[in-house]
Amino acid sequence: MSESRRPRVAGGYDLRVSVPPPPEPITGARLLFSLDPAVSHLNHGSFGAVPIVAQRAQQRLRDEMEADPLRFFTQGLVDRIGHTRRHLASFLGADPDGTALTTNATTGVAVVLQSLGLRPDDEVLTTDHGYGAVDLSVRRECRRTGATHRVLRVPLAATDEEVVQIVRAGLRPGRTRLLVVDQLTSATARLFPVAAIVGVSGEHGIPVLVDAAHAPGMLTASVQSIGADFWVGNLHKWGYAPRGTAVLVVAPQWRERIEPLVVSWEQDSGFPGRLEWQATADYTSWLSAPAGLYTLRSLDVDRVRAHNAALAAYGQRMVGDALGVPPADLPDPGGPTVAMRIVPLPAGLATTLAGARALQTRIAERLATQVAVMAWQGRGWLRVCGQVYNSPDEYQRLAVRLPTLLAQG
Ligand SMILES: Cc1ncc(COP(=O)(O)O)c(C=O)c1O
Repeated sequence: MSESRRPRVAGGYDLRVSVPPPPEPITGARLLFSLDPAVSHLNHGSFGAVPIVAQRAQQRLRDEMEADPLRFFTQGLVDRIGHTRRHLASFLGADPDGTALTTNATTGVAVVLQSLGLRPDDEVLTTDHGYGAVDLSVRRECRRTGATHRVLRVPLAATDEEVVQIVRAGLRPGRTRLLVVDQLTSATARLFPVAAIVGVSGEHGIPVLVDAAHAPGMLTASVQSIGADFWVGNLHKWGYAPRGTAVLVVAPQWRERIEPLVVSWEQDSGFPGRLEWQATADYTSWLSAPAGLYTLRSLDVDRVRAHNAALAAYGQRMVGDALGVPPADLPDPGGPTVAMRIVPLPAGLATTLAGARALQTRIAERLATQVAVMAWQGRGWLRVCGQVYNSPDEYQRLAVRLPTLLAQG
């Protein structure tokens, strides 16, 4: 296929742009999901989308639970959770004995923070690419304990070597009790060299929590190869699991110190049981998570990864061109399988959280297109994702209509 193309879209628009070709579609993949066909779903990264197979698996488990709740909860549920945990850990290349199921990345982060026993002279170090809710959690734990939250600034265009340098210079041995760093950032869709960062921190004995909310299903690095003290990843984004499925992976030296947010009957069983058993709750999302991975595997994980990354790159170029952003100014996420990309919005637009949310809603309502709009470093950014249910014309439509919508203020 030629490098230069003029995609025609509904309505007869002619986009005179030069973009890399979109990937070959994965035939029939859209039918595996129950997404509203009247909407372009270009934001898989926020809340994922659950394939019908996994939805059905969860429903069957709920049926079983409602047929005899006592039986469901008291006969074999702990073993079934353990079986699921080992399955997910194996997929992620994580130590199954160091892995605990949890509901989401936010909960995993909170568990780690409150297990550290921070004191007033301590500090928690994060970067300015961190996820907003995680920052709020760090801030609250610091307020509660008298510790300090310090934020490292990392330029968007910093190379991996520069990122490692910035982290190295920012660590304060003796004071920094935890470094929180994202594997793939949400607001800036940037891959961080987390294994190297863990190495640098380790030289000073400073533990690292890797927020890998987007990693499972999308990125290829195994959890073991990163070697972090703590690693938390969501299965309910790119791993196609029902929502409420995540894992917290903990290095051996920390396992006994990790305490759940809620104490329940498995408290004395130690890690990971005491984290996982959260009293009466709906455990069916965890138990049906393997059905999500089954869908991913049946599509061929490597093929899905390559497809999604190429489609996100295509969408970024398409939207960027429509907004007059030169290709050189479109941030590169830094990895071959990253399926999220950002485009800078015209100056003055979506520069605050409230402004970003308002614009995201306006795009959803007026263009029937779900994207993420973020405010980062005083600038608005639009993030598109690529997923097997997306097609190139969805990005073309957005590109054609977005400039007019933005011009309307
Ligand atoms: C980098 C990052 N961390 C944490 C989260 C929080 O995930 P959850 O809402 O599942 O806890 C997200 C969600 O998008 C994220 O992008």
